[in-house]
Amino acid sequence: MSPIDFKNNFPRHIAIIMDGNGRWAKRRFLPRVFGHRQGVQTVKNIVRAAHKLKIEVLSLYAFSTENWKRPAEEISSLFDLLLTFIKKDFEEFNENKVKLRILGDLSKFPQNIQFEIENVLEKTKNNDGLQLNIALNYGSREELLRAFRVLKEKNIEALSESAVSDLLYTAGQPDPDLLIRTSGEMRVSNFLLWQTAYSELYFTDKMWPDFDGQDLEAAIIEYQKRQRRFGGL
Ligand code: FPP
Repeated sequence: MSPIDFKNNFPRHIAIIMDGNGRWAKRRFLPRVFGHRQGVQTVKNIVRAAHKLKIEVLSLYAFSTENWKRPAEEISSLFDLLLTFIKKDFEEFNENKVKLRILGDLSKFPQNIQFEIENVLEKTKNNDGLQLNIALNYGSREELLRAFRVLKEKNIEALSESAVSDLLYTAGQPDPDLLIRTSGEMRVSNFLLWQTAYSELYFTDKMWPDFDGQDLEAAIIEYQKRQRRFGGL
């Protein structure tokens, strides 16, 4: 494997659709929650790897607006994992200057989760390391509608791409250069539709719990082989 070129064409923003936790567990005859639990270990490893690689922005799709359709029991165990991650695991990331941002509408989440997240947002707001975006109750169409409503309310005449971008949860951040999806599924599933207009897509058959730092590096190396033309020649 050729090494990563850190000087040229290095991705500033990597977005990941973390898929396959359930199938990972099923293959091992385990309940789905075991897959999610292992999935959180992967989240931690990938945040560490992104920090080491000095990636500017990492966006992780943790809970979509469609995920509310899952059984209450599964949702509740995802919430428990999220709470532990935010309360305990984030301490290490804070020491490494990781800054948290939430993409999505948190108001539907239990009060204690909202409280702990607000706490970490406040604690990490001046950090200047990796910008970690966690998408929670996130849907791209919803995000765009929210932006369009503001534009309409403010009666903004001069519509522009940057006026829309500035109203998205990712305001001020570079668009993802690379979008990764694990588990062999080849869809973008309502994730960052506006922001990934020119992103390179990378699909791997690995289930999210099996994805590791080396897989992230392999995706970056593949990305660096691609020629991005942004519609030009
Ligand atoms: C997809 O696997 C994964 C999710 C819907 C949730 C992702 C959540 C985590 C990795 C844990 C919580 C996150 C954080 C940031 C602490 P799936 O269940 O859809 O897998 P399947 O398609 O095989 O059923």
